[in-house]
Amino acid sequence: MGTGPTRREVLAGAGLLAGAGVLAACGVGSSGGGRGPGGQSTGPLAAVANIPVGGAVAATLDGQPILLTQAKAGTIVGLSAICTHQGCTVLPRGGQLLCPCHGSIYALDGSNVSGPAPAPLPPVAVHVVGGEVLGGAG
Ligand code: FES
Repeated sequence: MGTGPTRREVLAGAGLLAGAGVLAACGVGSSGGGRGPGGQSTGPLAAVANIPVGGAVAATLDGQPILLTQAKAGTIVGLSAICTHQGCTVLPRGGQLLCPCHGSIYALDGSNVSGPAPAPLPPVAVHVVGGEVLGGAG
């Protein structure tokens, strides 16, 4: 004697009647608050006049530490200031760039002079407009 389970399918007919309520869209007037033009819109990083010829200054671009060097008068080079050894912030020191953590020294073009840093400081695009250094290639 088999007692097979019986399946029952219950068909529940559910009718949903959605009330046709129409809400008038409220016009929200938002005036002002225009965003700046797209593209690189960072302020001046430094004045060329403040970067010593044969030296460098520290600056910040997009929250990242950078160095602006002027090995030759009128030629500004942007470099990441993040040491390629272990990520400390490299600082200007005379005519060179020094990492205070383990003593890596870089030249003003970012190349390695001495210390444990395994690679040059990566370049950062900057350009000069009206005597001021701006981020980006311009
Ligand atoms: S983190 Fe710069 S020398 Fe080690």
